Amino acid sequence: MNNVILQGDCIKKLKELNDNSIDSVVTDPPYCSGGFNETQKRMAKGQGITYKQFKKTGWFINDNMTTGGLVWLLRSVAVESFRLLKDGGSFCVFTDWRMYPHLAPALESSGFRLQNMIVWNKSQMGLGRGFRPQHEIIIHLVKGKPKFYDNKTGNVITEKRVSPTRRLHQTEKPVQLLAKLIRVITPPGGVVLDPFAGSGSTLVAAKREGFSFVGIERDPEYVEIAHIRVGEAPKGGAEDAI
Ligand SMILES: C[S@@+](CC[C@H](N)C(=O)[O-])C[C@H]1O[C@@H](n2cnc3c(N)ncnc32)[C@H](O)[C@@H]1O
Repeated sequence: MNNVILQGDCIKKLKELNDNSIDSVVTDPPYCSGGFNETQKRMAKGQGITYKQFKKTGWFINDNMTTGGLVWLLRSVAVESFRLLKDGGSFCVFTDWRMYPHLAPALESSGFRLQNMIVWNKSQMGLGRGFRPQHEIIIHLVKGKPKFYDNKTGNVITEKRVSPTRRLHQTEKPVQLLAKLIRVITPPGGVVLDPFAGSGSTLVAAKREGFSFVGIERDPEYVEIAHIRVGEAPKGGAEDAI
């Protein structure tokens, strides 16, 4: 099952995929962070999510899960991903400094080895006070002995955010950043999986780099956007067309 975008809950959809069929996982789940306390997250007031939206989407879909809920969700995804990945395959998951200490040991306990902490330097500070945020984290875990296919990338990657005027998803990640990650951990002709595909940025990056992809996204509107973006993306090259 290659070059598909499946609509649904990734916990269910991952179970439909075959053992040892995936070369790398690169995914950007909801962060469920932002400094709100657990009660506020339960009330779904964090990150500007209104109660009306919460009722429509449920607790699962947005950034309003408790820390325990997110750890449970991502560990479940990690367990399935471990089954799907070939030996030496990598599992890269975006998070922030606040959730890293909760997620890293939980994900490692699914069978992976913690390999690295990759820092995305967004090159400009975000809003806030004191030490204003400028980076996000990618937790890199590996199944067995790691296999790498490109040694030109350091563990601090500088890439500008997607401009708010251009982005199709509130938390859209730059295709160029995703392409750099994918190149290091995916063999020629390999298959990249993103269980939280959003508007399809990982899938676009995979296609552009000449890889196959499997995307899963729960929100049908984003699935449609991802289909359009992937359809329009050039295959294997042409950076300026992104
Ligand atoms: C942080 S966004 C990903 C954005 C993506 N990287 C992009 O550039 O567009 C996370 C996505 O995961 C989806 N999601 C949340 N829970 C999910 C679940 N259980 N199964 C599948 N998708 C889910 C959300 O709808 C959201 O679009």
